[in-house]
Amino acid sequence: MATERLLDGLFISFEGIDGAGKSTHIDGLAQAFRALGRVVTVTREPGGTPLAEKLRLLVLTEAMDAMTEALLVFAARRDHLQQVIEPALARGNVVLCDRFTDATFAYQGGGRGFDLAILAVLEQWVQSTGSSDVAFVRQPDLTVWFDLPAEIAAQRLQGARTPDKFEAQPLEFFKRVSDAYLSRMMASPRRFARINADNSRQAVWLDVLKAVQAKGWLP
Ligand code: TYD
Repeated sequence: MATERLLDGLFISFEGIDGAGKSTHIDGLAQAFRALGRVVTVTREPGGTPLAEKLRLLVLTEAMDAMTEALLVFAARRDHLQQVIEPALARGNVVLCDRFTDATFAYQGGGRGFDLAILAVLEQWVQSTGSSDVAFVRQPDLTVWFDLPAEIAAQRLQGARTPDKFEAQPLEFFKRVSDAYLSRMMASPRRFARINADNSRQAVWLDVLKAVQAKGWLP
């Protein structure tokens, strides 16, 4: 379809500590883009391919050191980029990804204290695309960060479901994760939209919508 090919692909990631409430808004945005006639790929990390989903299960359930964890999430990311994200963007699709590399800086870097400089090297390697001499490192066009105080996230998660390995972490862990998200935003302010997630679902949704409208991607 001629019109489909003329559209630029769009890559939007969604971030926040566990309990920040990303999921319903990702679905809402998918509907809004589809209503415009866009083809939407909704996906997640770690995960999004059969191999990456296997790695996700290991990362979320098995005890391992922080470097092993970082290598596994980046391995999953490489497969996801090659199999799903890059082909979808090349087709002009809208890719909505529940978490991406900022989560690695936040959880493995901030939460678990793993070396940020090594994560930055892995980011460059894993997200390099194309065969040209000019290095292109894939990043989201927009990152919607659901910012929620760790104390409130913990209250929301209480009794909601059986916690996975990360959800079972103490409050201090999530404070470090939040701080690391903030650092990532300060380093790339134009890529980030910070949403106050300590609000009603409707108010959060309107802020999410506004962030995407501000880019000119939705009317
Ligand atoms: P999450 O995205 O919250 O999915 P669900 O809603 O099904 O729980 O869970 C993914 C978990 O993986 C989350 O706790 C953050 C963690 N994670 C990392 O530690 N590093 C990463 O690079 C990514 C993408 C996620």
